[in-house]
Amino acid sequence: MAEKQKLIEIKNLKQYFPVGHGQVIKAVDGVTFDIYKGETLGLVGESGCGKSTTGRTIIGLYQATDGEVLFNGVSVHAKKSSQELKELKRKMQMIFQDPYASLNPRMTVADIIAEGIDIHGLAKTKEERMKRVYELLETVGLNREHANRYPHEFSGGQRQRIGIARALAVEPEFIIADEPISALDVSIQAQVVNLMKKLQREKGLTYLFIAHDLSMVKYISDRIGVMYFGKMVELAEAEELYRNPIHPYTKALLSAIPLPDPETERVRRRTVYDPSQHNYKEGELLEFREITPGHFVLCSEEEYKKYKAMYS
Ligand SMILES: Nc1ncnc2c1ncn2[C@@H]1O[C@H](COP(=O)(O)OP(=O)(O)O)[C@@H](O)[C@H]1O
Ligand SMILES: [Mg+2]
Repeated sequence: MAEKQKLIEIKNLKQYFPVGHGQVIKAVDGVTFDIYKGETLGLVGESGCGKSTTGRTIIGLYQATDGEVLFNGVSVHAKKSSQELKELKRKMQMIFQDPYASLNPRMTVADIIAEGIDIHGLAKTKEERMKRVYELLETVGLNREHANRYPHEFSGGQRQRIGIARALAVEPEFIIADEPISALDVSIQAQVVNLMKKLQREKGLTYLFIAHDLSMVKYISDRIGVMYFGKMVELAEAEELYRNPIHPYTKALLSAIPLPDPETERVRRRTVYDPSQHNYKEGELLEFREITPGHFVLCSEEEYKKYKAMYS
């Protein structure tokens, strides 16, 4: 296998939100991982665990409280010229859970898709601009007749395709998809995921794919990171994570995925995660440690030894 190149390096990233009276919400609390060129990294965890904030901070929508994000070796949050900033923004795009809320209802599909083309001056003439719009519509499985319509005329799945076309318009390298299928019917989810996979193959895109459940994310992700209350508790290749989950929180998440067979589903046991089960001592140092190659778990020194003995 070819040497993996790091596109994004996230180092001890923190994002704290002040909420008054000297209180802060530690939405992201010291997260470290890399995203390789051309891969899909799935980011999972319950609602409120900090997935969206992690994505927004990586892309530079928020200034980080602490830590660092490198994109192709360049710090996302460091001061740069407006030209450099514009270029960085072009290379990193986002698609959202609710394509309707994120598409301006008063703009035509053509204008929505071409917004980035205009901002970045990617088309020299009106004809070239429309040609790009038509190509993009076809790329995402729509057609040129859709260009002059408005978002409300489309189904949820089609709107998500418009959101994808808009992101692709500026030829990004990296796309953060923040729960892009959570609002769609199950029958439509696979179509959107398949489209994303096809685009990734064709364009060599790198994805951070955020999801709150583990069922669809396995299918699209090369590796998966699990978040719990602002921390990443486990990271491994997708297959490995499903086969050998180590952190008790990951085990609980996996046990909550419904099984296709109703009979097995009826008798299956769900596990519940109780953070107090770790019995950490006061001030005990928790670190993200590698148990087997590429498989990381947030754990104490004592747990590390135990996990090593169990899984190596
Ligand atoms: N702009 C903000 N100001 C204050 N708190 C926020 C803000 N954005 C998110 N939070 C809080 O940070 C935590 C993580 O939120 P979020 O990143 O949206 O989680 P997720 O995407 O995993 O559901 C939550 O407790 C949320 O209420
Ligand atoms: Mg979210």
